[in-house]
Amino acid sequence: MSYEPKIVGFLCNWCAYSAADLAGMSRISYPPTIRIVRLMCSGRIDPVIVVDTLINGADGVLIAGCLPGDCHYVEGNLNAEVRIKILKNLIAKTGLEPERLRLEWIPASGGALFADVVKDFTNQLIHLGPSPLAGENPDKNVLELLEVVRDTVADVRLRELVGKKRQITEKGNVYGEVVSKEEFEKRLAEYMNDEFDRHRILRMLKDHPLSVRELSERLNLRPQRVLSHIAAMRRKNLVAVERIEGTSPLYTALEV
Ligand code: FES
Repeated sequence: MSYEPKIVGFLCNWCAYSAADLAGMSRISYPPTIRIVRLMCSGRIDPVIVVDTLINGADGVLIAGCLPGDCHYVEGNLNAEVRIKILKNLIAKTGLEPERLRLEWIPASGGALFADVVKDFTNQLIHLGPSPLAGENPDKNVLELLEVVRDTVADVRLRELVGKKRQITEKGNVYGEVVSKEEFEKRLAEYMNDEFDRHRILRMLKDHPLSVRELSERLNLRPQRVLSHIAAMRRKNLVAVERIEGTSPLYTALEV
């Protein structure tokens, strides 16, 4: 083994945690790479904690819940699945491999399956190499972008939004519009991408005032896109014009 990956596993009490216990009692061997945190349901995992775990240098994060249809809280595991998909999509923007985050369904009787998952994830992480955030000198770019992901998932209350999935896909939104599950997930992903861009802008404007053109160059986003983010943030009193330079307004972040 070239290095020993560090995995943090968030396991549902009713299934994966019992499976891990069973693996231990049955003396099924697996690599000593995982540190386990017990949850009452995979749906209880807070995306902020997942991001913090990666920021703190874990090489991988495993979330394991009950099989679909077996969740003790009806749809907790399915909600976790949507959140993890969104989170992976945001993590991919940071330069960190989204494969470092893994979701698995493991029944209570799955001691051998749990051991196989840990073995397979460990091999996958060995192949990826150590996290760029582990050790003394974390990659500053990845760290900064992961902190933006953290801001985004902390601010948007992703858990609450995903919790509305059933209502919106079965009964309809506030306008009575019922959308398919695929459409709901697509719109949620777009919304989260926009929020990610806005939090990046906010961080930059906290450092010093910038014009739309400067933001557009730094973020590699079209100026119209930046302008629409600025307009949305001005409506929420998050940014304001600091001064005009030439013909360009320079924006700054407001304290909230
Ligand atoms: Fe196990 Fe919900 S109770 S995932």
